[in-house]
Amino acid sequence: MKILVTGGAGFIGGNFIHYMLKEHPEDEIVCLDLLTYAGNMETLEPVLGNPKFKFVKGDITDRDFVFHLFEEEKFDVVVNFAAESHVDRSIYDPEVFLKTNILGTACLLDASKKFGVKRYHQVSTDEVYGDLPIEEKDLFFTEESNIHTSSPYSASKASADLLVQAYMKTYQLPATISRCSNNYGPYHFPEKLIPLVITRALNNETIPVYGTGENVRDWLYVTDHCRAIDMIIRSGKEGEIYNIGGHNEKTNLEVVKAILKALNKPESLITFVEDRKGHDRRYAIDPTKITEQLGWHHNYSFEEGIKMTVDWYLSHREWWEHIINGEYQDYYEKMYGGKEQ
Ligand code: NAD
Ligand code: TYD
Repeated sequence: MKILVTGGAGFIGGNFIHYMLKEHPEDEIVCLDLLTYAGNMETLEPVLGNPKFKFVKGDITDRDFVFHLFEEEKFDVVVNFAAESHVDRSIYDPEVFLKTNILGTACLLDASKKFGVKRYHQVSTDEVYGDLPIEEKDLFFTEESNIHTSSPYSASKASADLLVQAYMKTYQLPATISRCSNNYGPYHFPEKLIPLVITRALNNETIPVYGTGENVRDWLYVTDHCRAIDMIIRSGKEGEIYNIGGHNEKTNLEVVKAILKALNKPESLITFVEDRKGHDRRYAIDPTKITEQLGWHHNYSFEEGIKMTVDWYLSHREWWEHIINGEYQDYYEKMYGGKEQ
């Protein structure tokens, strides 16, 4: 099987590539990534010598480029991770979110249709469902929950989902969609809560907590998400949406305190700052469908996952220090400078 992974130099796409090359050494993987600020070739360094892996730098919104790539490579499966993914950035500057997340998805859908891809998989998010009240603990997002977005980011992801559904119905494109809760783990860009707390605490810097810190997120270790997507592209039913989550709800303050404890750092580093505009209160996924239909369940508890993540950041200081000092953006030029086709 030949699989196109877009956005594979980012957090989840990168973990997915590592996972797939290990679990399915017979498959070929091509990664297409624009290397925006969030893309990092150092994340892919361990697989760059693997003959089953190829990296292509490019933009999912560039139609000529994408169509040419599909014609040449003849992909069996496309998994679209490529996106602008940070809610706070979408609040300051929505436009690139609309371009990449909506027009980029449309371009990949057209190319998948034209070149007869056997399965297109859209990596979506639980944020398309909006938020839930903090106090009503028995309410969860199911696949039937209404789309009810809060941020330009989630609105752009929901728009992409609607396009995928339109292509399934109108053109019978063989597609699936997954909506996962918040991920954490290795190679997570340190603008997001968990890696931000780890890296700032290691540098003895203050930890900014938005509002009161009582907002709830449902955290899943990234490998559990990768395994779910692998199951969906192999055994998921065309036309279906699958929610992915491990019933692990935590307030932001609980998460921050757990990390500070694991690093033996004082809670006095916590600083409450102005709340995010439109801040979603609570996300909580009901994963019954993927559990019953595909046999997926999460393997890692939050306690195990946080320990593994903290250990990874402790033993991969170079990876995140290169992000903080900007050196990671030179890596592609160093490795590939002058070699572009
Ligand atoms: P990320 O920001 O870490 O990575 C995004 C990647 O996409 C980067 O490598 C970037 O260079 C690439 N990219 C951006 N624009 C591009 C373009 N125009 N063409 C080609 N590549 C481009 O994001 P992530 O956290 O790994 O999220 C991956 C996907 O999973 C996203 O679609 C996101 O919406 C979804 N998701 C994320 C989470 C989470 O907790 N992080 C949870 C559920 C779903
Ligand atoms: P984030 O990692 O940005 O993911 P998302 O907004 O997609 O859920 O944020 C997770 C939670 O942490 C969210 O409720 C906002 C909060 N947060 C802070 O309190 N401080 C921070 O510096 C950041 C980045 C997030």
